[in-house]
Amino acid sequence: MKILNFGSLNIDNVYTVSHFVRPGETLATEQLDLFCGGKGLNQSIALSKAGATVYHAGKIGEDGKILLDILQEHGVNTQWVEQAAGRSGHAVIQVDASGQNCILLYGGTNQQITEEQIDRTLSDFGPGDLLLLQNEINGLDLLLIKAAQKEMQIALNPSPVSPKLLEMPLENVTLFVFNEIEGEMLSGVLEPDQMLAAIRKKYPSAVLLLTLGKHGAVYDDGIRRLRHGIYDVPRVDTTGAGDTFTGYFLARTAAGDSPELALELASVASSIAVSRSGAAASIPKLDEVLRAREVLKPVIV
Ligand code: RIB
Repeated sequence: MKILNFGSLNIDNVYTVSHFVRPGETLATEQLDLFCGGKGLNQSIALSKAGATVYHAGKIGEDGKILLDILQEHGVNTQWVEQAAGRSGHAVIQVDASGQNCILLYGGTNQQITEEQIDRTLSDFGPGDLLLLQNEINGLDLLLIKAAQKEMQIALNPSPVSPKLLEMPLENVTLFVFNEIEGEMLSGVLEPDQMLAAIRKKYPSAVLLLTLGKHGAVYDDGIRRLRHGIYDVPRVDTTGAGDTFTGYFLARTAAGDSPELALELASVASSIAVSRSGAAASIPKLDEVLRAREVLKPVIV
């Protein structure tokens, strides 16, 4: 099974702030860091660090060499990343003293995906291969249709969630990874068990993976429901923690690990990511995750 991640590539401008800027306020920031990010890029790097062979497809602008370089440094195959005129996607991220973030996105070339690029890329993939998607590029509707026609498995992280996304052929998705906000949009309910039941009803055969922040994560494949807690680590920056979780879970299940073990390793990896600055930069390698697993104890949820 080949893994193709068709997703965003962003340059993250990360500002350390005492608090999130309020309407009408001018706020001096304490620090500016530039990181590589984008949910797509972060998830490809997490997949690769977790041991998977991953192909990344997407579009960078004239300033995007740094994004290509970091993918290649992490062993991600970039033959399907194309370049276009204009600026790459970027994010303006505020990180406050508690490690929480808020993110402003500029789509840039992430929003210039063409049907021709989709066809060129998918021509190299077939039945049983896995396509991973997030909602930071255009063309998702086409990708969902064309990948299903090719009998690929489709994992969707519906983030950032939008009304337009909800109108797409999500019945083609085989695995959803979502948080409470995205789950509420998918289901119309907020309580996690009711949310899972409502989403299960809409997508009877999909695997559901719900991340609940400090309340851990829940896996539901329609037969079994598994829960896993988070780990007690210093919270420095939550940016990219969800992407780390997604990449680790998919990589480890693709490697043949049980859902229980994949859930545990994804939870350890995302907890480590929270204890560090940056998105892609904060993702741990598998050997570090395996060592941490021996010493960290999950907080019971
Ligand atoms: O999930 C974190 C990512 O969201 C950041 O890297 C930023 O680029 C936005 O896409």
